[in-house]
Amino acid sequence: MESLVEALKKAQATSFAFYLKAHNYHWNVEGPNFSEYHAFLGDLYAEVWGAVDAIAEHIRTLDAYVPGSFSRFQELSSIEDELAVPSGRAMMSKLYIDNMRVLSDLQAAHAVAETLNKRGIVNFLEDRIDIHEKHGWMLRSYTKGE
Ligand SMILES: [Fe+2]
Repeated sequence: MESLVEALKKAQATSFAFYLKAHNYHWNVEGPNFSEYHAFLGDLYAEVWGAVDAIAEHIRTLDAYVPGSFSRFQELSSIEDELAVPSGRAMMSKLYIDNMRVLSDLQAAHAVAETLNKRGIVNFLEDRIDIHEKHGWMLRSYTKGE
């Protein structure tokens, strides 16, 4: 069960980092499409924020403690911190790449949960994978054309 706890902690930290970057971009985005980016990023951060709590509660269900500090999240997360303020379009392409990192950590946790036959966690992670694939479609769509 230890391997599942570790994989879920990583998925939780990467999801938190993704949430934080989307919220950061929601606050700081500028430009002619401000309103659209601001609203899209608002929906995105809110959706992922809810998932961070759900992943944490699955970790507690496995009787392990949940990481909840910046330093632990930074250690565990697969996503690099954002210190600059990119253009709206660059924000979308950065989040598209980060979304793939979230997917990869969710898939890794899913594989471990399958091995241990933890059906509830398998189902939960499949729903998260499905939602992040949809986020990926939307983020990718912003970066095409012009
Ligand atoms: Fe807001």
